[in-house]
Amino acid sequence: MGRLTGRNCLVTGAARGIGLAFAQGLVREGANVTLVDLDPSVADVAAKVNSESASPGVGRAIGVKADVTERGDIRAAVERTAKEFGSLDVMFNNAGINKPLNFMDVTEENWNLVMRVNAFSVLIGTQEAARQMIAQGKGGKVVNTCSVAGRQGYGNMAPYSASKAAVLSLTQAAARSLAQHKITVNAFAPAVVQTPLWEQLDKDLVDIGSTKEVGQAVQQFSAAILLGAAKPEDLVGTALFLASDDSNYITGQTMMVDGGRFML
Ligand SMILES: NC(=O)c1ccc[n+]([C@@H]2O[C@H](COP(=O)([O-])OP(=O)(O)OC[C@H]3O[C@@H](n4cnc5c(N)ncnc54)[C@H](O)[C@@H]3O)[C@@H](O)[C@H]2O)c1
Repeated sequence: MGRLTGRNCLVTGAARGIGLAFAQGLVREGANVTLVDLDPSVADVAAKVNSESASPGVGRAIGVKADVTERGDIRAAVERTAKEFGSLDVMFNNAGINKPLNFMDVTEENWNLVMRVNAFSVLIGTQEAARQMIAQGKGGKVVNTCSVAGRQGYGNMAPYSASKAAVLSLTQAAARSLAQHKITVNAFAPAVVQTPLWEQLDKDLVDIGSTKEVGQAVQQFSAAILLGAAKPEDLVGTALFLASDDSNYITGQTMMVDGGRFML
């Protein structure tokens, strides 16, 4: 038996990066997981997760292509999870993007895109998950991916910082609203995690003149982290904790999982 045997989870942004590491970790601990992503390769990714971890006591993965900014897509992914596994017990609102621009260059389009993918998706993802959990009548858990940028505004990523501050705030608002249904809502805030998001961010920061060469931004950000940059696997323990009964008495919190970058 794994720590999460019998628990049915949904992870958005799971085709790669942090979301994929979470899906793999959850399946290894016995959970069934719906991997959700805009990237159509998510079905193949789920099949790979199954083939890597198939053994007794291990959970099962399915892949669903969906856009987290579309309520109909998310509702369908939640319904598919309940149909396939019998319930939805833990929702990870993890998908996110970063499109850096210097503060004075931020456009309405940039703001709307980043806020929609990173913040609006957390609102509707939480609503759609909670609708299902309330109908099931057994409570549940919502885990949101925030960022250190939700606590510190960065000049060349203002919409991203604002969107992650919104994730922190939505986590608190949802925790207050859903406690009556025994649904807890928490978030975690990483600093630098080595994923395709950071590879692209590093290049984009050169393009907007924030850094001179590729590698400089990630090096500078990581140098300020006591434990250095994270790999996605470094966050899996936190995900398992927040998905398990061990975290039942915690709600409304945003845990800093940032290698000691900030002490709040
Ligand atoms: N990498 C870091 O250093 C870091 C630090 C703090 C927070 N975060 C947050 O962690 C989360 C995951 O980031 P990552 O580094 O793994 O990124 P990533 O780019 O490696 O993976 C993100 C995944 O989300 C998917 N996605 C993007 N938009 C989507 C949409 N509209 N609908 C469905 N799926 C969508 C992408 O296709 C991709 O597979 C994000 O919310 C990000 O803001 C990352």
